[in-house]
Amino acid sequence: MTPPTPPHPPTPQPLPSSSLSPSATTAAPVSTSTKDDVVVLFENVQKIYQKSAQAPPVIALGGIDMAITRGEYFAIMGPSGSGKSTMLNILGCLDRPSHGRFLLDGQDISQIDDRELSQVRGKRLGFVFQAFNLIPQLTVSENIQVPLFYQAIPAKQRRQMAEQSAERVGLQERLHHRPSELSGGQQQRVAVARALVSEPSFLLADEPTGNLDSSTGEAILGLFDELHALGLTIIMVTHDPSIATRCQRTIWLRDGLIEREVITDHSEQPATTEHA
Ligand SMILES: Nc1ncnc2c1ncn2[C@@H]1O[C@H](COP(=O)(O)OP(=O)(O)O)[C@@H](O)[C@H]1O
Ligand SMILES: [Mg+2]
Repeated sequence: MTPPTPPHPPTPQPLPSSSLSPSATTAAPVSTSTKDDVVVLFENVQKIYQKSAQAPPVIALGGIDMAITRGEYFAIMGPSGSGKSTMLNILGCLDRPSHGRFLLDGQDISQIDDRELSQVRGKRLGFVFQAFNLIPQLTVSENIQVPLFYQAIPAKQRRQMAEQSAERVGLQERLHHRPSELSGGQQQRVAVARALVSEPSFLLADEPTGNLDSSTGEAILGLFDELHALGLTIIMVTHDPSIATRCQRTIWLRDGLIEREVITDHSEQPATTEHA
């Protein structure tokens, strides 16, 4: 069976280091948390696209330093072309930096080969995309198990893991239904359960509410709030400032650099617990 893998961006050609001259440095402070708490560490991460020797290089990321702490709810915003997708592709291990280092749970994954990269992706990351990418012929339980099919886990254990994951998103009563028998919000929750089934280091969400009506979108964000309260690290790309304010920290990208960073204080806000 074919897994619902996200699209693979083209592999860029490496550049000589002399062609690297980011025009500015990042303004964002690097987190001071201890090393063990850091899930994601970017050290001068650059991504440069060079279509041909004649074409001028496109600096998609100009040298990013950032640290994301375990348990953080983190948002990435910025205008079109600012580097959000490029950053997401690197965070999601779909692509590597041209220069600089990306440490995931302390392991440098900037230099590992494609096979290792796809293993890291399958075992240590959970993706939630705008389109749910559920397989219509499979039940909810089977859809949730998809990431486990590549990990040599016995069938019985797989089913148990899927049940536990379904329970985390409140879908334990729907395990044997097909996606077409579920509402949009429930389908998105299956996608979240699938993302969580491998106990990933973080959940990576790309405009997770983009395809949902506002009340269903709100329910999914409520689910994210709950999962975050239980300790899950969530990294989300969004265009919507009202969604970003639900996160603890938002970075704004511009021209491939962090333009500013906003910390949101949630101490006064009640938690949302509604489900779709
Ligand atoms: N494969 C590619 N080849 C060349 N340039 C690219 C490629 N992907 C992205 N870019 C360029 O890198 C910059 C950042 O793009 P992107 O990360 O998609 O921004 P965003 O997601 O914020 O809209 C843009 O100028 C874009 O044109
Ligand atoms: Mg984009």
